[in-house]
Amino acid sequence: MTEKLTIRGGKTLEGKIEIAGAKNSALPLIAATLLTEKEVYLENVPRLDDVQTMLNMVRELGKDVTATGPDTVRITGAVSSNQAPAELVRKMRASFLVLAPLLGKTGRAEVPLPGGCNIGTRPVNLHLQGLKRLGVEINQDDGRIIARANNLRSNDIFLDYPSVGATEQLLMAAVCAKGKTTIYNGAQEPEIRDLALFLTELGADLSLKGSVLTVNGGSEFGKGNYKVLSDRIAAGTYMLAGVATGGKVKVESVDPSSIKPLSLKLRKAGVKVEENERSIQIESQGRPDNLEVITLPFPGFPTDLQAPITSVLTLAKGKSVVKETVFDSRFGHVAELSKMGADISVTNSNTVFIEGKNKLRGTEVEATDIRAGASLVIAGLAAEGKTEVSGMKHLDRGYSELQSHLESLGATIERVSENG
Ligand code: EPZ
Repeated sequence: MTEKLTIRGGKTLEGKIEIAGAKNSALPLIAATLLTEKEVYLENVPRLDDVQTMLNMVRELGKDVTATGPDTVRITGAVSSNQAPAELVRKMRASFLVLAPLLGKTGRAEVPLPGGCNIGTRPVNLHLQGLKRLGVEINQDDGRIIARANNLRSNDIFLDYPSVGATEQLLMAAVCAKGKTTIYNGAQEPEIRDLALFLTELGADLSLKGSVLTVNGGSEFGKGNYKVLSDRIAAGTYMLAGVATGGKVKVESVDPSSIKPLSLKLRKAGVKVEENERSIQIESQGRPDNLEVITLPFPGFPTDLQAPITSVLTLAKGKSVVKETVFDSRFGHVAELSKMGADISVTNSNTVFIEGKNKLRGTEVEATDIRAGASLVIAGLAAEGKTEVSGMKHLDRGYSELQSHLESLGATIERVSENG
């Protein structure tokens, strides 16, 4: 049954949210458990459809997966297959990350090419080019990648673009290649560090210095206990919901340095932002000022908050400009925000122009991807009247307990069936 969120806007959000584990860290960490037969306990694993998909993936590949608590999972056992099921890869692109661990463990891997999605073509050329540098033989047959490497060899790799997924894929291959591998121009997102710390917990010998990742590969992998880092994008989403409704919201159990670009931009827009060791509190000081935002790889402004901050800027004072440089078509939210009365347009050079207005009006809108969905929920919380956001399947992939968290902040929001 497809469901939608019905939001009665205009409520000022106030209160605290405990931030769960990061989707974009839990997914590579679960893939990395394929590198060891020993027992691994992962804590702070968020309850999300995408996480369930990745747990199902490693189970299909032979691992024993048991939930040992509401957000803790035990994964153990040996890989018994090196063929990733197509239906799981199609469901979630990040499943492509099982390629390197399967290769490292069994010398062979068959993984379907992940499709594009609503935010762009999303090729995997950087993954494959890097794997070839490590001696992997790559063939393609009927939409599947067939990779073989009897002996992965260490090497230097230069990434033409600091791709998050390619960096994670190559890190997991390099730890299986005897000798020293250096990855240059690697991604620097906090989730990369989380994966590196987890691989070290399992027995890997590696170090990160900015965009340079150095691996002394060939270690045996043992058991591990690891706590997934908090979800900086979920934290930023709740902060923006607070700003959009003129409220005061504190996000807890999150490292403020992981979301610094947003905090600095919000301060520039006149929002009061208070950072403590493991929390951030925003307090609106009235309509935010307009901003210019450009998304870039970390430590730049995160592309995953481009759609959410765009919603806030439709209510800011004056003209704002948002430029998306990471993905080639991440604007599914723009047409929907126009339906709500926003004065917004996107050019063919991936730039959004916004004339801030003092109100949006509720209507029926459609989420086309996880973060576009978050953007429309934020707009609905601020709009006058009722907003219905359909496409919950997208939101459920990336936000755990979204409705209950927003209700705890004072939102009037309910989940109904789409033909309800
Ligand atoms: C990760 O995707 C995240 N997903 C994305 O979050 C996030 O938006 C993205 O990193 C950027 O931060 C997960 O971690 C599961 P990329 P990923 O490889 O690894 C191009 C969300 O909403 N590229 O850094 O796929 C690519 O097309 C999701 O939670 C190549 O050209 O991102 C894109 O334009 C969405 N060739 C750019 O690089 C390649 O081989 C960035 O992609 C790989 C990528």
